[in-house]
Amino acid sequence: RARLVTIDGPSGTGKGTLAEQLAERLGWHCLDSGALYRVLGLAAQRQGLALTDAAAVAHLAGALPVHFRAGRVWLAEDDVTEAIRTEQAGQAASRVAAHPPVRAALLDWQRARARPPGLVADGRDMGTVVFPQAPLKIFLDASAEVRADRRYKQLKGKGMDANLPDLVMEIAERDARDRSRPVAPLRAAEDAILIDSSAMSIEEVLDRVLEEVRR
Ligand code: CDP
Repeated sequence: RARLVTIDGPSGTGKGTLAEQLAERLGWHCLDSGALYRVLGLAAQRQGLALTDAAAVAHLAGALPVHFRAGRVWLAEDDVTEAIRTEQAGQAASRVAAHPPVRAALLDWQRARARPPGLVADGRDMGTVVFPQAPLKIFLDASAEVRADRRYKQLKGKGMDANLPDLVMEIAERDARDRSRPVAPLRAAEDAILIDSSAMSIEEVLDRVLEEVRR
């Protein structure tokens, strides 16, 4: 198989962890496209842009000084690794991500991450829009309760504030926005392999995907 795996799905399914571990096992690059939208949302807010201003945010997206280095995320000289993980940053990401010109402005940057020896790309539209030619596409899902609970534990584990009932609502709101937007809505590519991780551990999901990679 060509050296490109896409992993799409809603919030809290374990996509990010799976993508990271898979890339590490294969020795490939990893693209966390959600982090890109999160950095953009944060940068827009820091510049005082209205998140509804598609043209201004797209302009910013076209020259976003974002860098992924050794597991950390940088916005120009600022280490924003923790700042982009709040659910507030997730909401800002989902708002800027709904604008078609913003998505268009980030396409080339994302596609340029597909380099030897290979790439694992995680997000919402990796298999449908950014890498439609990918030979292996995974769509990872899980029940709403499991997803909110995983996100709660993830935030708590990082010492961040979290409240389960709020998270359930926020994640539902973000997923609804991601699924209903007119461009690149969250959905499985027709040729994607669907995996429901509700009752699976991360190791089980990783083994399942590695099996597909080696097939
Ligand atoms: O960590 P979580 O799965 O909750 O979110 P994320 O992958 O970091 O993405 C944050 C937000 O960015 C999503 O809710 C989407 O609105 C947006 N996003 C997108 O539109 N397209 C992508 N390829 C990745 C993320």
